[in-house]
Amino acid sequence: MALTHVGTHPPVSGVSGWVARWAGSIVPGGTVLDLACGSGRHARRLAALGYRVEAVDVDASCLTALARTPGILTRCLDLEGEAWPYQDVLFDAIVVTNYLHRPLLPKIAAALAPGAVLIYETFRTGNESYGKPSSPAFLLHPGELLAFAHQAGLLVTAFEDGFSANPKPSMLQRLCAVKPPLLSPERGRLE
Ligand SMILES: C[S@@+](CC[C@H](N)C(=O)[O-])C[C@H]1O[C@@H](n2cnc3c(N)ncnc32)[C@H](O)[C@@H]1O
Repeated sequence: MALTHVGTHPPVSGVSGWVARWAGSIVPGGTVLDLACGSGRHARRLAALGYRVEAVDVDASCLTALARTPGILTRCLDLEGEAWPYQDVLFDAIVVTNYLHRPLLPKIAAALAPGAVLIYETFRTGNESYGKPSSPAFLLHPGELLAFAHQAGLLVTAFEDGFSANPKPSMLQRLCAVKPPLLSPERGRLE
């Protein structure tokens, strides 16, 4: 199989290089939703950068220490079995890494405020040759996040899809996309 090598984004102190690269495009002091946050490596980094982070995971043990971190609100939630609680909430950014539950994708897009940033990085098909995850349910199809972003009306800032040597040999897909800002018809300018 011919491999497309994606960009090198070495992790920065355990943080995904992709997240580190695009975090600066989030509005200063904005609200960030870290979905399936795990140990909270990204929630912590984003809070340290001055963002107000809501960190969500089904595993309560991940959240205990995180809940004591200034700037982080934790929520123990089964994203696949419980109701989506952000029906009426908008975030300035949503970060998802190493997690995929396809039914959430439209909900994620809907929870982005105008001008908000979606930073997504997870595994794609072909990763089964390198290790876990290997189940098709957890692996993106080629171009899947790009197609999702277009369908959701997001503006794609960057997209990568293929073999990555960092943080370990794997098949990854990475997206950074922005919800279009509102156009004010009265003033004819972007807000
Ligand atoms: C591979 S870890 C990734 C953690 C983090 N995003 C990171 O990259 O460091 C996947 C995370 O998804 C969480 N997870 C799995 N199923 C979930 C569900 N149904 N609802 C919420 N979180 C879930 C797990 O508890 C785990 O923390």
